[in-house]
Amino acid sequence: MEATATILCENAVYGNLGAIGEHGWSVWLKTPRGEYLFDTGQGKGLLNNAAFFQKDFAAARGVLISHHHSDHTGGLLDAMKAMRGGPSGGGVPVHAHPDLFKDSFSTKGDKPRHIGVPHRRSLLEAAGADFRLETGWEEIEEGIYMTGEVPRRTSYEIGDLELKHYGDGRKLVVDPIRDDQTVVIDTEEGLFVVLGCSHAGVINILTYIAEKTGKSRFHTVIGGTHLGPVEEDQVSRSIEALHEFDIGRIGVSHCTGQKTAARMAAEFGERFFFCSVGVEVEI
Ligand SMILES: [Fe+2]
Ligand SMILES: [Fe+2]
Repeated sequence: MEATATILCENAVYGNLGAIGEHGWSVWLKTPRGEYLFDTGQGKGLLNNAAFFQKDFAAARGVLISHHHSDHTGGLLDAMKAMRGGPSGGGVPVHAHPDLFKDSFSTKGDKPRHIGVPHRRSLLEAAGADFRLETGWEEIEEGIYMTGEVPRRTSYEIGDLELKHYGDGRKLVVDPIRDDQTVVIDTEEGLFVVLGCSHAGVINILTYIAEKTGKSRFHTVIGGTHLGPVEEDQVSRSIEALHEFDIGRIGVSHCTGQKTAARMAAEFGERFFFCSVGVEVEI
């Protein structure tokens, strides 16, 4: 069976007249073990684009969520409605980290803006969500994994200092976004990796995946690297470190930012591509 990843939500759309771009990320995964939705965008484009690219949400075996931010979880309610209780009608498994419903804020504007899941858990459950909240590495189906929390080891992957939460106190402090996780599909050609936003640091993530799977060949890595809104030192050191991995193709998107994406295109040449709305990648 042909296995593919189709980008449903991303910041940009080229061609595909009728599809919608938005600041967000969502990928439809068609695997030999069934179809899954990874992230849901911010909720403006998901169903429009799913219809445009003819993805049958009622056939989905489940939803995988990378982290709590609204540009990845805003479409969850629409997804639940379209999935109509899942293939068996008994609920749609939604795999995520226990921090899914935490409050967090972006301090990029004049005042803090809430960027957690925009819908209540009870509402999502009433619409059919069956939350499976796990902290650690998890096998969803044979050969399909979610990393869970990723150990932060590099000194230079500092992350985005404008993303905050209340932590244990009353003051907004930098959010480590410990819930950030990534999907890994094991294939005969190597590992297929779908990043969410890489808040854990793309180098930390790939290192951890290699460690957990015992494999070092990444045939394709796609998704958000969050190298847009970070310091130059992190960008250059991360790009340098990416060269140490055996990566066949790298397709960045979303929070990578256009400037960093252009830089990576120059660095990785033929191995580079951009994952905008409608791009279909072979798994
Ligand atoms: Fe994020
Ligand atoms: Fe994001």
